Amino acid sequence: MFPLRHTQPAVPTAGGHSESTATTPRGSVARLDLTNFRNYENLRLDVASSPLVLAGPNGAGKTNLLEALSLLVPGRGLRRAPLAEMAYRSAGEAARPNWAVAARIRHTDGDVQLGTGFDGAVTPPRRTVRINRDNGTPAALAAYASAVWLTPEMDRLFQDAVATRRPFLDRLVFGFHPEHASRISAYDQARRERLKLLTDGVHDQAWLAAIEERLAELGVAIAAARNELVAQLNSVLAETATDFPRLALALAGDVETWLQEARALAVEDRLRDALAASRAADAQAGRMLVGPHRSDLRATHVGYGHPIGMCSTGEQKAALVLLMLAYAELLARARGQTPLLLFDEVTAHLDGAHRAAFFARILDMGIQAWMTGTEIGVFRELRGRAQFLTVVNATIT
Ligand SMILES: Nc1ncnc2c1ncn2[C@@H]1O[C@H](COP(=O)(O)OP(=O)(O)OP(=O)(O)O)[C@@H](O)[C@H]1O
Ligand SMILES: [Mg+2]
Repeated sequence: MFPLRHTQPAVPTAGGHSESTATTPRGSVARLDLTNFRNYENLRLDVASSPLVLAGPNGAGKTNLLEALSLLVPGRGLRRAPLAEMAYRSAGEAARPNWAVAARIRHTDGDVQLGTGFDGAVTPPRRTVRINRDNGTPAALAAYASAVWLTPEMDRLFQDAVATRRPFLDRLVFGFHPEHASRISAYDQARRERLKLLTDGVHDQAWLAAIEERLAELGVAIAAARNELVAQLNSVLAETATDFPRLALALAGDVETWLQEARALAVEDRLRDALAASRAADAQAGRMLVGPHRSDLRATHVGYGHPIGMCSTGEQKAALVLLMLAYAELLARARGQTPLLLFDEVTAHLDGAHRAAFFARILDMGIQAWMTGTEIGVFRELRGRAQFLTVVNATIT
């Protein structure tokens, strides 16, 4: 077994020059085995730790492969699809009851064998996890592997509604603070409970005060973790000189802003008081009008001085690539090993200069980037420095 890694992000130094990932050992896949996973009945793939290009026609199985890799870390994978949907099915045949994804990961302290799967033959169906020879939980995978992904669905992130952007940010926080997810669900549950009391006209002061106390505690912890991540991302974004547009992030939220001005305990008091004062208004509005469930992630193009959401399609994509690379850099520093980078159709919308800047950056980071595309030509600058695989009809050559 390997020691559990401390997953607290390293605080960047005052000069802004923290240790670069170029010297960080790689966390990379050595071997991948798929059984009955999506369109792969059986696949074994042995790869080196350099970046990989997966090229092939639509429907070949490129995204499915990235999705399989994304299931080797806690969470629901890059499509967040139901587990049963991932079981191999062919025309005229029922879906297979089980699927499995297994990989040998080159780890800082040696290799580790990770596996995850779905057993639909038992009631209730369950997800299985294996770490070396032992059964484990999805959460336990965090100690052995991390992954950062980018999918075409994320292309509109900066234009989408805040309801998309806030969970996106929270998933990033979750990579550093696994407890962030349970805090958010506890917070949401308390929020619903309080609203029900208010709308039902239950004026039990002690009960409401107890819920608000809890909301204040959880809300401040949630906002503080977001603030911390955004500050660290900004620090990495400012120090990485690239040919990408300069990007600056900010959190728009009452509690996040209060935390910039006062200590956490004082902010807890302030949030609790604000909730108590807003009971009548919340009851009338049918929702809670104050708290970090309303916060948004703002991104600004530093050169233009306007929101990234106003930028061109390609500029937005470049900003997103830059953001995810900064996140990967932070993860690498915190964990002492590079995460897997799963970038689906990464070159779409990027011009030659942005592509070249992206390729230079991943080579510099020494990260195992898995990149897909329908055309191999756009990856030509990586020739000799990446592994080129062709995917056709679930077969990889
Ligand atoms: N459970 C499943 N069983 C069998 N095939 C599946 C399953 N789920 C999805 N597929 C099929 O897998 C194929 C490959 O999908 P995938 O998304 O990996 O394609 P892709 O190579 O990324 O294509 P594109 O270039 O269009 O993005 C698709 O034809 C899809 O219909
Ligand atoms: Mg695809």
